[in-house]
Parts: sequence; structure tokens; C-alpha cells
Amino acid sequence: ENIYVGVDVGGTSIKVGVCDEEGHLLHTYEGPTDTSKGTDTILQNIANYSRLVVSEANLDWEKVAGVGIGIAGFLDIANGIVKYSANLNIVDTNLKQFLEQELQKVIKINNDANVAALGEAWAGAGRGVDHCVCYTLGTGVGGGIIIDGKIVEGYNGMAGELGHIAIVPDLEAIQCGCGKMGCLESVSSATGIIRMAKDAVERGERTSLVQVVDIEAKDVFDAAKAGDEVAARIVSRAAYYLGKSMAMMSIILNPQAFIIGGGVSKAGDFLFDQIREVYEKYALDQAKEGVSIVPAVLGNNAGVVGAAGLILRG
Ligand code: BGC
Ligand code: NA
Ligand code: ZN
Repeated sequence: ENIYVGVDVGGTSIKVGVCDEEGHLLHTYEGPTDTSKGTDTILQNIANYSRLVVSEANLDWEKVAGVGIGIAGFLDIANGIVKYSANLNIVDTNLKQFLEQELQKVIKINNDANVAALGEAWAGAGRGVDHCVCYTLGTGVGGGIIIDGKIVEGYNGMAGELGHIAIVPDLEAIQCGCGKMGCLESVSSATGIIRMAKDAVERGERTSLVQVVDIEAKDVFDAAKAGDEVAARIVSRAAYYLGKSMAMMSIILNPQAFIIGGGVSKAGDFLFDQIREVYEKYALDQAKEGVSIVPAVLGNNAGVVGAAGLILRG
């Protein structure tokens, strides 16, 4: 029996999982990314943790059919090159080549959110759904598009970078980590929500958030749920642009489901209901018939399962 290793490279930790032929997770391991130590350390960690998860599970490295990697950032998928990852601070690095030499296995690289989408479509909220669009709301806004059960990569590997849809009007736009103005990520990521909250506090707006020492996205949601108007406005802004982007995606791809994961999605119905309301308002009736907006179900494991799926299903 072959086994498959999936790796999910995030800004703070690298998660690794080993799956069987059916995509069942047999074992997982999580270790620090060590982003501050530079690219070489991150690459070496990916290789080390991949071997470790297999040996910890008492499985035979010889049985590993391949190692799939999901990593945040703009990639040349075919060549396995990380062109630019703002969150990991990696530029023009051939990850595939390094891992092929280091691990002597088939290596497949894809975007972290694409891979999470594949995991959800295969074994999570989108099981049995062939066309879905996934958003991951965390440090950034990730996107993954699954059509006919496959990841849509596009010409340059840039398809599905939904966080960088230029959707905020110029007058309200700020610069995104990608360098452009008005990206969805600048308002709908945890980072964006925190920034808007800190700005409001600095402007002296009347909000309970002044009492919070180190504001996190969860604080903003909690305050909004408790009736804080400033916090509520920030959440509704984040939801508004997400819902509107989904209405656009409905016209472009007509997916059957929108799946939302990542830390921010833990805000639950309070967030989802607002997104649905905006989506209902703007999406063309015929395009949204039977379409649902649902939370991801694999949680933290979507990335590793989907990454292993790159080998199994690719
Ligand atoms: C990056 C994406 C990534 C997302 C989530 C964005 O800033 O551009 O490549 O998928 O963050 O990590
Ligand atoms: Na993506
Ligand atoms: Zn951007």
C-alpha cells in the first residue's frame, strides 16, 4: 500500500500529514516554520518534518508515493517555484527542485488555499460537489477554485488569488501586501479587520475596543456581537466585500458552493449571515439557485489532506 505525505506551510507553523490511498489521515506532525531564520531554514524544515511524520507513524519511507506541498504566495506551479510569498518572506525559490533532491520523491507544489480547497472538495464540506470556490480568512485572504473536481490554476498559476481582487473603491482603498490598492484582503483578512479596529481607536471613535491591549480579530467580533457599533461596522465591511466578491464569482464560474475556512470563519453565523445577505442582494438569481455558503469542515487539516491529494489525484 502506498502512502502520501501532505505539507501545509503557513507563516507560523508547518503541518504535515500522512494519508492512505483513500485520503484518510494516518498521522500528523506540526513544527515551527521559523520564518525569521530565512528561506533555507524553512525549506529544510519542510524536508525534515516530512520524514519525521512518516517515521513517527512507524511507516516505511519506501512506501511514500510522493510529497505534496501547499504554500502561501504566488507560485510558478508547474516548475514548483515560489515567486513571491509576502507572509513567508520567500522570493524566487525553487522549492520543488530542493525537495526532489532532498527527499528523492515525486514532489507537487501548489498554493496553500488551492490545496485547502482541494481537501475540502475531496473530503470536507464540498464532498460530492464538483464546482466550488473556497476562501480562507486568516493573515491573508486565500482563494481556491475547484471546477470539475480539479484545482483551477490559470495561465500563470495565479487563478484563485481571491484575496487580491481589487474591490474596495479607490477613495477608501489602502495598499495591500502585494503592492496593489483596494484588495479584498485589506478589509476581509484578520490583518485587515485588526487594522480597521486600531484605526478607529486611534481616530478616537467611541468603542469598547479602546480597552483591548493587543486587538485581535476575535476581539472585534466579540465587541460587534455585544452591540459595539464601531466593531459592527468593521465586521459588516469585511462581510460586504466578501459577499460582493462571491456574487462576482457566481457570474464568472457559477459554482455550487462557497466554502469559507480559516481562523476568521470561526466567528460563525454572525459573519456568515452577513455575507449571505450581501450575496443574496448582488448575485444574479439564476446563478445563485441552489448555491450555498458554508463553513469548511476539515479545519486545520484541509491543507495537509489536500496537499496529499495533489499526489493521489494529480
Ligand atoms: C496570498 C495567497 C495565500 C493567502 C492565504 C495571500 O496573501 O497571496 O497566496 O493563499 O494569503 O495564505
Ligand atoms: Na489560491
Ligand atoms: Zn493584494
